[in-house]
This record gives sequence, structure tokens and C-alpha cells, in this order.
Amino acid sequence: MKHETIEKNIGLMILLIIITISGGGLAEIVPLFFQTSTTKPIEGMRTYTALEFEGRDIYIREGCNNCHSQMIRPFRAETERYGHFSTANEFVWEHPFLWGSKRTGPDLARVGGRYSDDWHRAHLYNPRDVVPESKMPAYPWLFENKLTGKDTAKKLEVQRAMGVPFTDEQIAGAQDAVQGKYEIDALVAYLQALGKTHSVYNNKR
Ligand code: HEC
Repeated sequence: MKHETIEKNIGLMILLIIITISGGGLAEIVPLFFQTSTTKPIEGMRTYTALEFEGRDIYIREGCNNCHSQMIRPFRAETERYGHFSTANEFVWEHPFLWGSKRTGPDLARVGGRYSDDWHRAHLYNPRDVVPESKMPAYPWLFENKLTGKDTAKKLEVQRAMGVPFTDEQIAGAQDAVQGKYEIDALVAYLQALGKTHSVYNNKR
């Protein structure tokens, strides 16, 4: 077929463009479903505890991921500041993943262990108390709301259906593990687990 025929027939051109782009897209995306580097969890990975998992749900509810990414890019400026760059096998049990695309605040992928629990509590109660120039919102209600744990087991079961290996014991004990705890306890537990659910990169910051 002469190239001119394609150039003069916009319908045909659209069709051929769609075929070409789909082919390219599939060639890039499909292999990711079969590579162990993207489908197998990183060595020694543990699941979140029930309390950490509830903290993660609070993180989503409060929209923390609108200002904080959890994805360290492979550039010197990032790895010097945040630690080893993120790899796909760290996220195979994340449903949904919280990579984020906006950084009003710092990346949190490896924030676990960087500050004490007390620092996080003070910071979330009123960020200005510990970082005077901060423009992060305050979250005082996390110190008043208690968790009932009513749905925790169900949530872990749903995660297990998606391939996260929560054990029967974890699910059976889920409600007891969170009931009566404050939301701040769960959120801080989650923050301290970020980057700490395996030790492959040593997660120094
Ligand atoms: C409007 C944007 C915004 C939102 C929403 C937000 N933050 Fe922040 N966060 C910031 C900014 C800016 C900083 C840097 C200043 C500071 O430390 O307070 C920060 C800093 C932090 C730090 C310290 C990180 C470090 O490495 O020093 C943590 C931890 C944190 N935020 C957690 C949270 C959590 C948890 C939530 C949700 C409950 C949240 N943030 C919501 C903007 C935000």
C-alpha cells in the first residue's frame, strides 16, 4: 500500500495508529504480568499487622497520599534524602498502591524509624509544634476517635482474596488487636512500618 493512500484516508490512518499504539503498549505492559521482579514480593517481606493496616486506611481516608508520595525514584538527589529507590517487588501486596503523584510534603516510602512515635504524635496533632514552617494540616480528631475493629477481619479477608498472605490467626485476632485503640495509634504504627516490612535495602535514611 502506498503511503499516500494512508495519508489521504483519515479513517484508515486512525485505525492503523490504534493498531500500532496498542501493539507497542501491549509489548511494554504484558511482560510485567510474568516477570518475577514485578510479581514476587521482595525477600523477607511481612504483611502489615491488623493495627498498621487500619492505620493505612486512615492514611487513605485523610488524603495523606494527596501530599505525600510513597515512591522513591532512582536519582541521586532522592536516594541521598530518602534511601534506596523503590522497586516493584515492594508493592505486590499493596491494594491499592499509594505511590501518589504529588509531593507537597516529603516522600514517605521509608519514613519508618526515622522519627520516634512521640514525634509523629506531636506532628500530627499540630505540625507547627515541631516544624514551625510546616503547612501540613493538623489532625487532632485522630486523638479522640477510637477504633471498634468491627470490620478489620473482613478487610484482611478481602486483602487475602487479592493475594496478600494474611494468616488465619491474624484474621481471627484482628478485632482484638485494634479494638479500643485510638486512630492516632494505628496511623503512627503504619508510618513506622513504612519501608520496614522487609530489610533488603537496610532502609537507612
Ligand atoms: C496539604 C499537604 C499535606 C497533607 C494533606 C499531609 N501532609 Fe504530611 N507533610 C506536608 C508537608 C509540607 C510536610 C513537611 C513539613 C513538616 O514536616 O511538617 C509534611 C511532613 C510530613 C511528615 C514528615 C516527613 C519527613 O520525612 O520529615 C510525615 C511523617 C507526614 N507529613 C505524614 C502525614 C500524614 C500521616 C498525613 C495524613 C494524616 C499527612 N502527612 C498529610 C504536607 C502534607
